[in-house]
Amino acid sequence: QTGAFTYDPGFTSTASCESKITYIDGDAGILLHRGYPIDQLAEQSTFMEVAYLLLNGELPDGTTLEEFKTTITRHTMVNEQLATFFRGFRRDAHPMAILCGVVGALSAFYHDSTDIMDPQQRMIASHRLIAKMPTIAAMAYKYSVGQPFVYPRNDLSYTANFLRMTFSVPAEEYEVDPVVEAAMDKIFILHADHEQNASTSTVRLAGSSGANPFACIAAGIACLWGPAHGGANEAALNMLREIGTPDRIPEYIARAKNKDDPFRLMGFGHRVYKNFDPRAKVLSKAAGEVLEKLGRNDPVLDTARELERIALEDPYFIDKKLYPNVDFYSGVILSAIGFPTTMFTVLFALARTTGWVAQWNEMIADPEQKIGRPRQLYTGATQRDYTPVASR
Ligand code: SDX
Repeated sequence: QTGAFTYDPGFTSTASCESKITYIDGDAGILLHRGYPIDQLAEQSTFMEVAYLLLNGELPDGTTLEEFKTTITRHTMVNEQLATFFRGFRRDAHPMAILCGVVGALSAFYHDSTDIMDPQQRMIASHRLIAKMPTIAAMAYKYSVGQPFVYPRNDLSYTANFLRMTFSVPAEEYEVDPVVEAAMDKIFILHADHEQNASTSTVRLAGSSGANPFACIAAGIACLWGPAHGGANEAALNMLREIGTPDRIPEYIARAKNKDDPFRLMGFGHRVYKNFDPRAKVLSKAAGEVLEKLGRNDPVLDTARELERIALEDPYFIDKKLYPNVDFYSGVILSAIGFPTTMFTVLFALARTTGWVAQWNEMIADPEQKIGRPRQLYTGATQRDYTPVASR
């Protein structure tokens, strides 16, 4: 039922909905965005084109794509007042904590100009979110390293603009390497949308009450931060670095199999994929290519590949159908580009904003949609009478 939330005790998910945006076949390892396979989009498209596709349902022609990119570019600057929000954070605040707070604060700047029942205003809010996320993400990074904020420019691509805002300093311009820009753009494409994952469901649930989209996206960012979800890319690289050399892999495999040990192999397993995550396949290939083109040799990549090989031969992982997911290799590339691990989930949120706003638009545009109300299976005490404290 469109927009309806049903509870199936046999299944831990508490919501279901209809959508035309993304299709996943977890057993076959298939991921389609508006019918287009993710590996084709990752290899042949651009993040701005995929953003348009997710939002509008069709690939744009050349003129439409240029108009869309210009519209997004013209929304990349944030209100100067927003910069003061950063001053309240400690310099060592996690960038995801900053992103949660600052994106939520956007609602204070647009709440009275976003009639979500007006399709045009909905699309403007969506464009604002897609456009401002890179600026805010770069500001979060700059604040964490004590460097001045860098303003966006209108003569750069979406991804080049983000890289420059992140890594340029007044004393030295950051020259965007085409290899880095292409790798970043591909990572954004691979993280753009993924059906009804936890953070997208959070955005939908928040949006179903009529809350403004900026607050809904802030809720999605909060959910994505968890290590079981988007926070896994940061945790996966930290785990690979902690493992260090391949000879220590068996120790971690044993821990992952030990039911009494809460440790899980970060970047492995998935609620839906019981086959290879197609995004992980693209990222595994891209990791080797990017490091080679950049002339980097990160031993972590060898450890990742050896961990994947050993795990995929282990009966425990085979039996539970645990494969590398999108978060297993992405950190190797992001680290090679120069991002600290604390920025990895921020980059995931930046990319996923396109999917979140597309899914939010789809839900709000549905005249049948109602407020979400996941049901529950009550397992508490049966009715009983109150007893005064003196007699307890
Ligand atoms: C993302 O939903 C999405 O689409 C999310 C996402 C997106 O694009 O939005 O794809 C992005 O969040 C990817 C997942 C990133 N998280 C991680 O890499 C963290 C490590 N992975 C696990 O925490 C886990 O695999 C989850 C949280 C992703 C899924 O956990 P589930 O729902 O428990 O998985 P499951 O039911 O399929 O697990 C089957 C079994 C369980 O054991 P039993 O209860 O059957 O005894 O496998 C075990 C799990 O305990 N298991 C693992 C494991 N993942 C699952 N054991 C060891 N290591 C792991 N990584």
